[in-house]
Formats: sequence, structure tokens, C-alpha cells
Amino acid sequence: MSDPDRSNLDDEYCERIRTLLEDAYVSADERGDVFGGSGSTGDLTSWEGKRRVIALAFDRAGNWLDVGCANGLLMETLTAWVAESGHRIEPYGLDLSERIAERARLRLPHWATRIWTGNVMKFEPPIRFDYVTALSDAVPMQSRGTLLKRLARRYLKPGGRLILSCYRPGAFLLGKPALEAESASEILRAEGFEPVGEAEVRDPLTGAAKVRVAWVNVGR
Ligand SMILES: C[S@@+](CC[C@H](N)C(=O)[O-])C[C@H]1O[C@@H](n2cnc3c(N)ncnc32)[C@H](O)[C@@H]1O
Repeated sequence: MSDPDRSNLDDEYCERIRTLLEDAYVSADERGDVFGGSGSTGDLTSWEGKRRVIALAFDRAGNWLDVGCANGLLMETLTAWVAESGHRIEPYGLDLSERIAERARLRLPHWATRIWTGNVMKFEPPIRFDYVTALSDAVPMQSRGTLLKRLARRYLKPGGRLILSCYRPGAFLLGKPALEAESASEILRAEGFEPVGEAEVRDPLTGAAKVRVAWVNVGR
């Protein structure tokens, strides 16, 4: 597939994602459901149960970009969880949807100038980061390799850490819940990146993976 064809496909995919998520995230956030404003369900305990695992990838201080930051809840909570292990993280956010990003700016006015709107495949970050988190479904499957290389080359500082997460997609996206989250390690390996760490959260009842995270250090 030629690059213009792939770029059109990426644009169509992003437009589909934006249409699918925007109203749901914005209206949830507007009615005070901060978890729904980040595409999740439940309360702080369940949010922590699904997201704290990402904090394991942070082992030193630095700045961090959350690609697909939604209403900024992960920026807020993960920074606090990482601080518990003594590492000070400065969070930044990027979201495809201007309406969703605006909810993050409204909720987190002290960070408003570091929450940007844009498609990760086109956005040019004004600074480089020590850490970048991204979800595997930010792009169509066939563009994952391009996404990972783009994050490594254009978003991260030399020696920075790329953290890839896979969540079990909900009924909302698929029509029916998927059985398991994909393996972030396998995705990284398939694209030529060797993970230096990985972690996961499993459903205590079924044993199915709900969240799978893996991270790589990019070249110096
Ligand atoms: C499920 S939320 C993630 C919230 C939070 N980062 C977390 O991990 O829980 C996914 C967000 O990613 C955004 N997103 C999806 N594709 C994107 C892309 N290509 N570039 C930037 N943001 C994207 C969506 O608009 C949505 O707000």
C-alpha cells in the first residue's frame, strides 16, 4: 500500500474514532462522570485497578506525554501514583478531538497550555519527552509500526521510554466485549522493538487479561 493510501486510511480511521467517542466522552465529563470522560466505567477503585499498572513503567523523574489523553484523568492520577514511588513526573496530553481535549483543559486549568489537539500521526510535538504512553488502537492495525517508529523518532528524547498499552475493548466499541486485551509485548516485538518491561491486569473471575502494558527504551 502506498503512503498516500495509508495516510487516507489513517485519516478515515481517526475520523471514525472521533465520531464514535466524542459525544460519549464529552457528555459523560459534562455530567461529572470523569471515568466516562476517559472512556472507562466504574469508580476510582476500578479505575485504579485498571490503570495503576502503567505506573510500573516509570522508574525515574521526567516529562511524560499521554497520547490520547481524553479528559486528562490518566495525566492526573498516574502522576500521583508515580509520585508515591518518589519520581516526579510532569504530564502533557495530546488528543485527536478538540472537544475532548477542551474537557481536559477545563478540568486541569493549571496544565491547559500543555494539552494539545492533534492526531499523533501528524502532530509535531514542540518538545521531546522522557516518557510517552500510547494505546495500540490509536491507529489502524497496519499502521502500528509507523506509530511506534514515529513516537520513538519524533516524540521521545534519546534514551526515553515508549510505553504501549492495550485495553480490553468494551461493548461500546465492539458491540460485544472482547475476551482479552492484546499483548503489548507481542505488538512491540512484531515491529522490531524489544520490551524491557511488561505488566498486566487480569480479571479475577475469568483470568482474562484486562490491561496489558509493555515498554521499551529508545536508542540514545
Ligand atoms: C480510551 S481514551 C484513553 C484515556 C487515557 N489515556 C487512558 O489510557 O485511560 C482514548 C483517547 O485517545 C484519543 N485518540 C484516539 N486516536 C488518537 C490519535 N490517533 N491521536 C491522538 N489521540 C487519539 C481519543 O480521542 C480518546 O480520547
